[in-house]
Amino acid sequence: MEDRQSASKIVVTGQWPEYAEAHLGFRNYWYPAMASSSLGKRPQAVKLLGEDVVLVRDNGRAYALNDRCPHRGVPLSMGRRQFPGTISCAYHGWTYDLKDGNLVAALTDGPDSPICGKRSVRIAAYPVEERAGLIWVYIGDAPAPPIEEDVPEELLKAGTVPMVMVETRKGNWRYGMENAVDEAHAKYLHRRTPFYFFSKFPVYSTDVRMEVAEDGKWLVRTGKQVFDSQTYGELGSWPGREWWRVGGGVSTFAARLPAIFRISHKTWSDYQFFVPVDEHHHLAVMVSAKWPSRLGKAWWKLYYHAYVRPFHHIMLNRWEDDRMVSMMSIPPEKLFRPDISVTTWRKWSSETARRTPEAPATSKP
Ligand code: FES
Repeated sequence: MEDRQSASKIVVTGQWPEYAEAHLGFRNYWYPAMASSSLGKRPQAVKLLGEDVVLVRDNGRAYALNDRCPHRGVPLSMGRRQFPGTISCAYHGWTYDLKDGNLVAALTDGPDSPICGKRSVRIAAYPVEERAGLIWVYIGDAPAPPIEEDVPEELLKAGTVPMVMVETRKGNWRYGMENAVDEAHAKYLHRRTPFYFFSKFPVYSTDVRMEVAEDGKWLVRTGKQVFDSQTYGELGSWPGREWWRVGGGVSTFAARLPAIFRISHKTWSDYQFFVPVDEHHHLAVMVSAKWPSRLGKAWWKLYYHAYVRPFHHIMLNRWEDDRMVSMMSIPPEKLFRPDISVTTWRKWSSETARRTPEAPATSKP
């Protein structure tokens, strides 16, 4: 059976050409690759924006190299940690410096191996940082900007307690991100989800917009009037009186490049990063963060594990959102009024995403 998402294309209308072409994501950004707690001395393979990367921790620091030994093309992630600060390929023992990818020894050719230090056998090293409980890798062609440019600044504040869950999901990264941005879906798909079961839940909003925040980094979703129960002509009213919905506060929703969605609740925030893996998969990196007092720290961790993780990240995000995302098949698509949230995101990201600088033209002598 043909894969429903085999095309992985987003409809091209001419309004968002860069976005339409970004099958493997926007380059020149820092992306979260895994939870800090998941990375130890053992090499780990990840795929980011179509690039194979091996991550490893040495002396407390995280390093990332391209996951391919230039000798015979074996993944370095299968390798061994023979000497401090290095990784040795599992096949013939070529040994690379974790800092810069230089070949520092070819163990099976003796200590005087002439291939050592040659530029042609150097492996690309990626900039790596650790922030907010995550390992971040810069994937790009231009020099890496400071990581603070790409991590939401609230997550960098002292006292942040981030709780992290990472999983690989089916579907191009844009399907995942667009589902998060999509204004209307939550009002129907998540109506009966246990996480919001007792919360007041609107039916629709008028004049939905995505407006650029003051810092120029976030697109914030707004709506004018919010309606609870409505009559749909002769069809009747929907959803009727939902007397059990008594709680819930006002949450705000915002999106930013390269593919970050934030739900700000009254006392904590939820961040979802949709990291491109390949054309048909993305990493869903979910971070719930709170800035509690010292006493509140233990309570927040308990609240996350007992409530947020099972009811929000697993039931709502995985069983409801991801189920839809993995079944989607576009193009074609026919959009309706609330989809302005999606089209504004497409257009804005297309216009403002970082570009890869063009190589200078070489003049012939
Ligand atoms: S393939 Fe890596 S050392 Fe031979």
